[in-house]
Amino acid sequence: MHRPVMLQEVLAWLQPRAGGIYLDGTTGAGGHSLAILEASGPDGRIVALDRDATAVATARQALRPYGDRAVVVQATYGDAPYVVRETTERNLDGALLDLGVSSLQLDTPARGFSFLANGPLDMRMDVRDSVTAADLVNRLPEKELARILEEHGEERYARRITKGIVRRRAQSPVLTTLALVEVIREAVPPVYLHGRLHFATRTFQALRIAVNHELESLEPALRQIAALLRPGGRLVVLAFHSLEDRIVKHTFRALAQGPAAGFTVLTKRPITPSAEECVENPRARSAKLRVLAAREAAA
Ligand SMILES: C[S@@+](CC[C@H](N)C(=O)[O-])C[C@H]1O[C@@H](n2cnc3c(N)ncnc32)[C@H](O)[C@@H]1O
Repeated sequence: MHRPVMLQEVLAWLQPRAGGIYLDGTTGAGGHSLAILEASGPDGRIVALDRDATAVATARQALRPYGDRAVVVQATYGDAPYVVRETTERNLDGALLDLGVSSLQLDTPARGFSFLANGPLDMRMDVRDSVTAADLVNRLPEKELARILEEHGEERYARRITKGIVRRRAQSPVLTTLALVEVIREAVPPVYLHGRLHFATRTFQALRIAVNHELESLEPALRQIAALLRPGGRLVVLAFHSLEDRIVKHTFRALAQGPAAGFTVLTKRPITPSAEECVENPRARSAKLRVLAAREAAA
């Protein structure tokens, strides 16, 4: 299994303890969930969610040895209040969101998340959703597509890439990941092909965010999950790009504003992974960890 990102830091901030109840809103392969169960033995519990059915099956398998200490449910973290309330009457001792795409998803070409392997241009985390990346690429008006690449990808060549897509799809639809990579390659200036970041990174990120509505759902979910914490309980969030991290930062700040606020931001600046972890796991490089705590009542 891939090593969960910033595992030691997540545990240090979440402080799992025996008897505690925790939410992992993005369980993926179950790596962080498993470590939380280990650290909260012998009787800490976890509610683990993922919107991806394959992730749920994988996490269920990984967490099976913990029996009824772990409940794994296919749900979005926006539905956390309902799922948590069905599982326990108690408020949470801690919650974790490890945002974005999993190695499981990236390493399965058939899911269409990777620009390094050929597969259908899909990118749906929940395959019951109806709109795929191919639908967006082949059907959206040029302006709308350019806006997505600009806003969700911060792609500086959004207009050029979109023009290339529109030209290509007039001949035949762009249906595979590598077909899209080729369109991007032809559309961007040669210097962009040799940058630090792969030239398709931002386009793929933008489409993935749009297909899965990743940004719209984040702020309301952070607020709802924060409201489930017991006094002293902590919400730990790992974000992997600046748009996501900005939403986390602003939402945490708003929740902690004013003397009557019910929360405190514990991380004035985001915590980032160690140099060793960045070398070992390139996916960790862009990680930013922020922590919010529910205030304890004044004595
Ligand atoms: C970075 S991975 C999590 C990896 C996990 N922490 C581990 O240790 O294996 C992110 C996961 O979040 C899931 N996800 C993304 N958006 C979600 C949402 N709104 N609700 C629930 N799960 C979501 C993805 O399907 C993916 O499996």
